[in-house]
Formats: sequence, structure tokens, C-alpha cells
Amino acid sequence: MSQEGSPEVRGGPGVAAHYNRLAPDFTRHWSYSDTFVDWMTGRLVAHTAIGADSHLLDVGSGPALYSRRLAEHTRHPVVCVDPSAAMLTHIPDTPRLVPVHATAQAVARGEAELPHREFDAILVKEALHHVPRGARGPTVRGLASLLAPHGRLVVVMMPTHDCGHPLFSAALRKLGQARFTPETVAGMLADSGRAVHIHQDAFPVTMPTARYLDMVGARYLTLLEHFTDTELDAGVTEIRRAHPGDTVTFTDRYTVLVAH
Ligand SMILES: C[S@@+](CC[C@H](N)C(=O)[O-])C[C@H]1O[C@@H](n2cnc3c(N)ncnc32)[C@H](O)[C@@H]1O
Repeated sequence: MSQEGSPEVRGGPGVAAHYNRLAPDFTRHWSYSDTFVDWMTGRLVAHTAIGADSHLLDVGSGPALYSRRLAEHTRHPVVCVDPSAAMLTHIPDTPRLVPVHATAQAVARGEAELPHREFDAILVKEALHHVPRGARGPTVRGLASLLAPHGRLVVVMMPTHDCGHPLFSAALRKLGQARFTPETVAGMLADSGRAVHIHQDAFPVTMPTARYLDMVGARYLTLLEHFTDTELDAGVTEIRRAHPGDTVTFTDRYTVLVAH
């Protein structure tokens, strides 16, 4: 649930500040319900094709909301990479998860210390847009080079058109203007010499309107960092007007690119 932002938000101190601020409440703002997290985990198991013997690398793992569950599908610990120290402190302290403090770029350049150099699956879920624009292609190629011969690189992102979220109009406009699209990523993955398959996943969400407005107020999408507090307040009022009931219903959409 995040999207491309301005250069300031996309990489560097803006991103770090955003995730350090979000870290304590990340899991609450990023999981509508246990059913949603179960559903997403199931989709990730299917896309990564992990099994009991798989080595999995989760790049931009955040607090391992998904890796802690994906770890139940393999006997090997899951390696969780994230440049936000605040996010890593929320990873459960278990030998099933190995936190690594690094960026995707550092991993791709072979500069991060990983427990092994080859993975059956590499997951980059809603994090690639944080890699600075010029570094994305080399990062995708570098990550692909860490795959075992039969391995899969899975990139999950929000579609830039029709993301499904009941955002205010200025935020949806901003999202529609994003230049970092699933097609761009498909091109980068193809350049790594792998076959690319694009999937569209969707989950129907019904949640208390107040809770959704809370998420918007907390800028649950990096996209929302573009708006001042006053603009955000106006956005919340607009959403409230469009959804006067106690609950809000929408379809949460994901584009998943699988390279293998
Ligand atoms: C929107 S969160 C997604 C977390 C997790 N993948 C999930 O879906 O629950 C984006 C994560 O990317 C991380 N991130 C930011 N810049 C990054 C970079 N250059 N390389 C890798 N991860 C990065 C952030 O710290 C944050 O934890």
C-alpha cells in the first residue's frame, strides 16, 4: 500500500523519516484484517512458489508482516532486508527471521552481508519505488543475479490506475501521474533475461470508515506525503462526504510481476 512520491519522498531522508514515523503502527495501518493478511500470504506463497526447502529473501520487508508467515512454509530462515532500523526493530525476535539492515541497492551490488548468496525466491513487495529512479534497473538486475537457476523474483506494487482505494481526488490524480508503472518494472525484469508474467490480484475490503480515515490521516501511503496537513484534512473531509456510512467498501488491487 504505497506509491511513488516526489524525489524527496522516493529516496533518501524523506523515506527514512516516513517509515521511522510509521514503524510503531505499521502493522495496524497495513493490515485491514487477519483475513486480508492470510489472503495476501496465500498469494505470495503462490507467486514465489516457495516450499519446504526454499531460501527466501524479502527485500524492503518492513516489520516482516508477511515474512513471519511465509517463514511457516519453509524450514530455512527468511532473510528480511530493510534500510529502516525502526522497521527492523518490529521484526519478531525468532531464528526463523534474519533481519539485515541494508537497501535493495546494496543487496543488488553485493555489499550487504547475507547468510547466503543464492535464493529460490526474492520478494520485493511495495518497496521498489523507494529505490532512486536511476538505480532501479541495476537493482532489479542485481537482485535477479542472486536467484538460483529455477528461482523467482516477485515484485508486488499498487497499480497506478484504478488502485481501488477510496482516496480523495487530488491523491488519486497524483497516483495516476506516477511514471513508475508495472510496465516499467516488467521491462526491467525482462532486461534481467527472465520470462515475466504479470498478475492482477484483488481483495474486497469492508472496514470502519473511521479506521480508514485514520490511515489516511497517518499518511499510510507515501503518496500522501505530498500533501500538507491542511490539504490532508480537506482530503479526509472529501472522503467522509463521499462515504457517510459507518463502513467503507472497496477493492484493494495489486499488480504482481513474477520473473523466472
Ligand atoms: C510500504 S513498506 C512495505 C513493507 C513490506 N514489504 C510489506 O509489504 O508489508 C516499504 C518498505 O520499503 C523500505 N525501503 C525504503 N527504501 C528502501 C530501499 N532503498 N531498499 C529497500 N527497502 C526500502 C521501507 O523502509 C519500508 O519498510
